[in-house]
Amino acid sequence: MDCRMDGRTAVVTGSSMGLGFAMAKEFAKSGANVALVARRPDVLEAAKADIESVSSTKVGAYVCDVSDPGAITSMCQSVASELGPIDVLVNNAGSSIRGEFLSITDEQWRGDLELKLFGAIRLTRQVFPGMIERRWGRIINILNTGAKAPPPTGSPTVVSRAAGMALTKVLAGEGAPHNVLVNALLVGKIVSDQIARRHANLETNISLEDYIAESGEQVPMGRMGTAEEFANMACFLASDAGSYITGTAINVDGGFSPVV
Ligand SMILES: NC(=O)c1ccc[n+]([C@@H]2O[C@H](COP(=O)([O-])OP(=O)(O)OC[C@H]3O[C@@H](n4cnc5c(N)ncnc54)[C@H](OP(=O)(O)O)[C@@H]3O)[C@@H](O)[C@H]2O)c1
Repeated sequence: MDCRMDGRTAVVTGSSMGLGFAMAKEFAKSGANVALVARRPDVLEAAKADIESVSSTKVGAYVCDVSDPGAITSMCQSVASELGPIDVLVNNAGSSIRGEFLSITDEQWRGDLELKLFGAIRLTRQVFPGMIERRWGRIINILNTGAKAPPPTGSPTVVSRAAGMALTKVLAGEGAPHNVLVNALLVGKIVSDQIARRHANLETNISLEDYIAESGEQVPMGRMGTAEEFANMACFLASDAGSYITGTAINVDGGFSPVV
């Protein structure tokens, strides 16, 4: 099996670090032009240089807050004119605000939905018509395992993620007759900068390495996953190899989710 993406252009949101960066790098190594999208220009430029060192495809860095509808529109226009029509969209940018239901304010609910649900809706609106017209497209929504198995104190993030799963299915049904395939990947516990930030916020004496090892003990496979392991599945879905898979939500979690 060959997971090639030659001649494709992929937009990956939240791709200056973590899972988004690993996906963008894997796509570029597989032959795609990639648009890196995040808010901090310096981190974006470092990510761009890293990917350019391992790939000869076009790599663009786009400063864009995916909570901002105007920024999304102009970013998509710039990508299309600089890298080519957008064939692959990965809605990955996100955060993990969670707490007891009664502690979550309207502002936090709105912020989470704007970033994760409306961000994906608005980005998809930009790319869906072109994909349909060219009869080839891939959209991958990055969610978390809480989308299928919402735990207590998971608000608001798992509610946004569950909505993302419904959005995935709706779009898959509308895209399928046009060869536009839409899937979701559900993250369990993957080592990334988000995990490092969570550790730093704990103000504990335990080292980051021990924190990662302890978190990994909650996973049936006994360890957290790597961003590269996660990116492999995204690359498969985004390539021609994933040509008969749509409307599904796949756990990439080492067996962590209680739900298949
Ligand atoms: N790692 C895990 O175990 C885990 C578990 C469950 C779910 N997830 C989800 O998986 C996705 C990737 O997580 P990660 O661990 O790779 O996170 P990460 O290491 O924190 O990276 C997040 C990326 O998103 C960008 N970003 C954040 N807010 C943005 C915004 N409003 N607009 C544009 N870009 C934005 C960040 O750059 P800037 O800050 O410069 O914008 C960064 O490039 C997220 O949706 C996360 O919630 C991860």
